[in-house]
Amino acid sequence: MRIDILTLFPEMFTGFLDGSLLGAARASGLLDVRVTNIRDFAEGVHRQVDDRPFGGGPGMLLMPGPVVECVESVQCEALSPGHLVMLTPAGRRLDQSVVEELARHERLVLMCGRYEGFDDRVRQTLHPDEISIGDFVLSGGEVAAMVIVDAVARLVPGVIGDAESARQDSFSGAERLVEGPQYTRPREFRGLQVPEVLLSGDHRRIAEWRHEQAVTATRQRTQPINQPQRSMP
Ligand SMILES: C[S@@+](CC[C@H](N)C(=O)[O-])C[C@H]1O[C@@H](n2cnc3c(N)ncnc32)[C@H](O)[C@@H]1O
Repeated sequence: MRIDILTLFPEMFTGFLDGSLLGAARASGLLDVRVTNIRDFAEGVHRQVDDRPFGGGPGMLLMPGPVVECVESVQCEALSPGHLVMLTPAGRRLDQSVVEELARHERLVLMCGRYEGFDDRVRQTLHPDEISIGDFVLSGGEVAAMVIVDAVARLVPGVIGDAESARQDSFSGAERLVEGPQYTRPREFRGLQVPEVLLSGDHRRIAEWRHEQAVTATRQRTQPINQPQRSMP
């Protein structure tokens, strides 16, 4: 799978992309992640990418020219233009089913905003899939892009050694349950024991217990999954 990240801060991705799981996936060729600096598509000596909003208001907006030209140039680098994603707080909220949907694409192109965001003509010109990673405001789309790259990479066949592990993760599978409690050695820690069933060797009982625990953990969440995303006034 190929993922292109378009950003004004390419250096933010250096350590992240070299890290354990992603570094190995890139080294083995399962994942091809490329980072492009939007500023390379800006004009003039100062390579300006932002300007004041028409109508007034605080902060600066990303000008449409450099962003659209950057996207179009990167899309032309491969046969498939890829699925274009704009990171924005106004987008549909990311969850595991959206991650699964993104992972089905051969190529993703992620646009990271900065300042007060994008001039709306970027959206009107490119018709991207607008995605938010939650109802809060980040300083830029880079961290949101990292969230998507990390979550999607786990679903690329071969990236996680044990495919079963991704299938059993929270929010995965038909029921989309969160994972229940898990234990490793020692059998006792500060008086707390590992549940007896996990030591029984009885795989059927263990599977049943894990499912019950997952159902309970899911019910106990303050915000149940599969609930309508936003309540409008
Ligand atoms: C400071 S934010 C702009 C916020 C914008 N003025 C607003 O109120 O919605 C700058 C950039 O960070 C990214 N960003 C911020 N919060 C985000 C979120 N929750 N999900 C995805 N991207 C986000 C977007 O790319 C955005 O263009």
